[in-house]
Formats: sequence, C-alpha cells, structure tokens
Amino acid sequence: MTGSRVLGSGSALPARVVTNAQLAEKVDTSHDWIVERTGIHQRYIAGEGETTATLATDAARAALADAGVDASDIDLIVLATATPDNTFPATATKVQHALGCHGGIAFDVAAVCSGFLYALTTADSLLKTGSAKRALVIGAETFSRILDWEDRTTCVLFGDGAGAVVLEAADPLGAGLPGAAGIIASRLHADGAQHDLLYVDGGPSTTQTVGHLRMKGREVFRHAVVNLSGVLGEVIEDAGISASDIDWIVPHQANKRILDATAKKLGIPPEKVIVTVDQHANTSAASVPLAFDVARKDGRIKSGDLVMFEAMGGGFTWGASLVRM
Ligand code: ACO
Repeated sequence: MTGSRVLGSGSALPARVVTNAQLAEKVDTSHDWIVERTGIHQRYIAGEGETTATLATDAARAALADAGVDASDIDLIVLATATPDNTFPATATKVQHALGCHGGIAFDVAAVCSGFLYALTTADSLLKTGSAKRALVIGAETFSRILDWEDRTTCVLFGDGAGAVVLEAADPLGAGLPGAAGIIASRLHADGAQHDLLYVDGGPSTTQTVGHLRMKGREVFRHAVVNLSGVLGEVIEDAGISASDIDWIVPHQANKRILDATAKKLGIPPEKVIVTVDQHANTSAASVPLAFDVARKDGRIKSGDLVMFEAMGGGFTWGASLVRM
C-alpha cells in the first residue's frame, strides 16, 4: 500500500462542564482574564467512573460507527495520551479489550499535546508497510487529574476529552494521485532542551508519584508560534501546495491567541481555522481529533477538502500533517 485514508471520526467528552465563573469561585481568577488571554469559556472535567480509557473507548466507538467499520476489523490501535489509566499496560490495550477486538497491535504514544500527530504519523507508516490494514488513532486525556488546582496560571487552561479517527490502508491505484483521498505529507519534531518549560514534576522512576503539570506559559507561547509556523511551512513545501490551497486548519487547541498568531504568520484567514478551545479548553492529545470531529459533524469539513492538522506540546514536541478527505 502507498497510503492511508480517513474513513471516519468520533469524539467523547465528560458529562460535567465547568465554566470560568465556577473556577473563579475556587481560584483567584476571572472569566474576563481567562477569555482575554486564552479564548476559553468552559471545559469538561471527568467525574467518577470517567477515565482516559472510557473516554477513548467512547470516541473510538463513535468513529467506528461513523466509518461503518466493525471493531473486529481493526488490527492497529495507536492511542496518544500523557494521562494513561495506569503506568502500564498501555491504555490502548484497555480500549482494545473494551471494543472487543483481539490480537492486533495496540500501544500508547507519549508526545503530550502533539501526541495525536505522532500517533497519526506512526499509524500511517504502519499501514503503508503492510503491518496492519485498519487502524484506530485516538487522542485521549484526563489532564484534570494532573493539574495543580491551586495554581491559577495552569489550572484554568486545560480540560478532558477524547477524539478518534479510523484509518485504512489506501488503494495503491488511488493513493498519491492528485486529489486522491489520504494522508499526503507529515512532519514531526522534538527538542528535549526545552523540557523545563512544560513538564510534570513527578513520575514512576523519579518521585514514584503522578506529579503536577508545571509550565512557563509566556515562553511556551513564544516557541509555539515559531515552531508551528515552521513545521506548517515544511509540510506545505513537501506536499507541493501553497497555503491558500488549504481548506481547513485543525490546530491543537491550546490558546486562541496561538491559533490566531500562527494562522496570521502563514497568511491563512481566520475563517479557515477550526476553533473549539472556547468550549473544550486545552485537551492535549485529544484536542486535534476532537476539533476535527466537531467540524466534520457540523458539515464544515467535507469529502475532498484539504485539511491540515498541527500541534505542539511538552518536550517540546511538534508536528503537522496534511490530509485530503
Ligand atoms: N487569572 C488571573 N490572573 C492570572 C492568571 C489567572 N488564571 N494566571 C496568571 N495571572 C496573572 C499573573 O500572575 C500575572 O500577574 P502579574 O503581572 O501581577 O505578575 C499576569 O496575570 C500576567 O501573567 P502572564 O503569565 O504574563 O500572562 P500571559 O499573557 O503570558 O498569559 C498564558 C498566560 C495564558 C498561560 C499564556 O502565556 C499562554 O497561553 N501560553 C501558552 C501556554 C499554553 O497554551 N500551553 C499549553 C500547553 S503547550 C501547547 O499546547 C502549545
């Protein structure tokens, strides 16, 4: 096979919505500060019985239904998360069992907010080499469980959720031809030198605790715009297109100001940028597939559209992927 194409998508959110006003009752913040600095109005927070695996399973079921694919036909699950149910085994194996599929490949990918881009590119590569035929690529997180709820500089920014896509190894006759549906080009990057700007201060091998998210927000912001516009430029060049050919950008939903600044740098009009950060806040690896699913289901992203995914997260890690629907 020479490519892979997207057959369907799905998403899942916890039942409980927490507004900025509700947060302001617990920490020293305000609705206006959060909206002005981030564009966030509310976030979904997982409750009892809701975990990364349950959200991922719900999103995967919705994606399978949308794609018209039976769970038993899935032979690869790549799940991006920084908040797994357990240190091991991989949350992907829990999802595999819950869906009722057996024996295929299932593993987690840890690239934080760019996890979905890493997972998508990994699945695309495995499909191209013939290691699998049909994949579920999932981004799922419960960041509410690693937040320091007394730190107003971070706890207002994140939410929980999951998104998933079904990918299928593409017909070699169609893939690669102009206008053919499928993943056209992807680029991934990492720079471990920036570890201390965004990290969790715990882990099994260091503190034997889960730890809490720590971030130097202003510096992350600066790197995000530079790294994202750089990788978008690379993918545009690899694909041999110009920025104006892109129908939709589906960015990682960290902050409305990062979305606006990155699109402006590339000369992409704001109406082509899918924005869900106002409703979901930053759901890390889940944010790109969640936003993608919202825009497909509301009819904005259609068959034949050229869609660019992009994300950056802790590590730093960052990447972009261009897909013809
Ligand atoms: N409510 C009220 N005031 C606050 C809050 C809050 N929740 N948080 C911080 N402040 C205060 C600060 O204490 C500071 O007060 P001071 O001037 O008296 O010291 C003031 O607001 C300004 O703080 P800054 O950190 O300079 O504010 P900034 O304009 O940089 O906005 C923010 C902060 C929103 C975190 C921004 O830097 C940002 O979005 N950075 C990107 C980080 C990000 O999105 N990370 C997600 C993970 S990585 C990724 O996904 C790309």
